[in-house]
Amino acid sequence: MDSVRLAGKIALVTGGSRGIGKAIALRLAREGADVIINYKQDAAAAEEAAAEVRGFGRRAWAFQADMRKPEEIKRLCAEIKKEVGDLGILVHNAAFGTMAPTMRMGRASWQATFDTNVTALLLLSQGVYPLLKKSGGHIVAISSVGSFTCFSEYAAIGSSKAAMEALVRYLAFDLAREGIRANTVSAGPVDTRAVTWFKYPNAVWNFGTKKSPLGRMGMPEDLAGIVAFLCTPDADWIVGQTIVADGGIMLGVEFKDWL
Ligand SMILES: NC(=O)c1ccc[n+]([C@@H]2O[C@H](COP(=O)([O-])OP(=O)(O)OC[C@H]3O[C@@H](n4cnc5c(N)ncnc54)[C@H](OP(=O)(O)O)[C@@H]3O)[C@@H](O)[C@H]2O)c1
Repeated sequence: MDSVRLAGKIALVTGGSRGIGKAIALRLAREGADVIINYKQDAAAAEEAAAEVRGFGRRAWAFQADMRKPEEIKRLCAEIKKEVGDLGILVHNAAFGTMAPTMRMGRASWQATFDTNVTALLLLSQGVYPLLKKSGGHIVAISSVGSFTCFSEYAAIGSSKAAMEALVRYLAFDLAREGIRANTVSAGPVDTRAVTWFKYPNAVWNFGTKKSPLGRMGMPEDLAGIVAFLCTPDADWIVGQTIVADGGIMLGVEFKDWL
């Protein structure tokens, strides 16, 4: 039987309509939480994800808001307060990033990446803070191992994810005393549509599969269970950490690959 460790909690998952965000939304629902699915443009996918959440017997909402735009984040937080009235879990999973080498990175793309990946987390946290405080809530951000290692043309995303991880530490530092815990889950390559952002998606797939000592690509569900765990009392002593879940791809080098 599935455990219902999150019964009575309400979660917001940004970018919860597909990929890793959807897997997180469904896992939280399976564990007993009601879920607000945030999305940017694909209302049909968000409604489908919400319907799947309801399939677990939970309540679900699909709320549009572009995480790059502060005014839309403000509107989302107001909608949550008005229409839902409670929030115990904030998962910032939505992301944006322009793929380009550093010497060709435009300022607007760089700024949009930081707006979506870092500033949105700050604004969301501020916006739902009263609700999280009331519930003894959790903040979980989704990062990438590109925050501490380099991948081709990944500078904007990697740098923004490093900043996001630092922000999570500060959120944890400031809010733990108020009963709110913040942590990050950091992924290696995962089989989602985002892999097509890369210039060589096949190479990302091959790297993700062959570099892992487990010999397979990461799946959205590989991350979802860790997010759910972080929102349970079993994880109470984990505060402000970045949990790397990459199937071991960053562990080291197999010399046979270099023969
Ligand atoms: N896939 C990987 O290999 C990988 C590796 C490491 C880390 N990650 C991280 O995992 C997270 C999820 O990635 P994914 O691979 O699951 O992506 P994905 O499959 O492309 O899904 C992206 C989701 O985010 C939403 N979204 C995109 N831009 C948004 C915005 N500005 N505001 C609100 N929602 C927005 C999309 O909604 P719409 O369809 O409506 O736009 C969709 O629900 C990201 O933080 C990413 O950096 C992914």
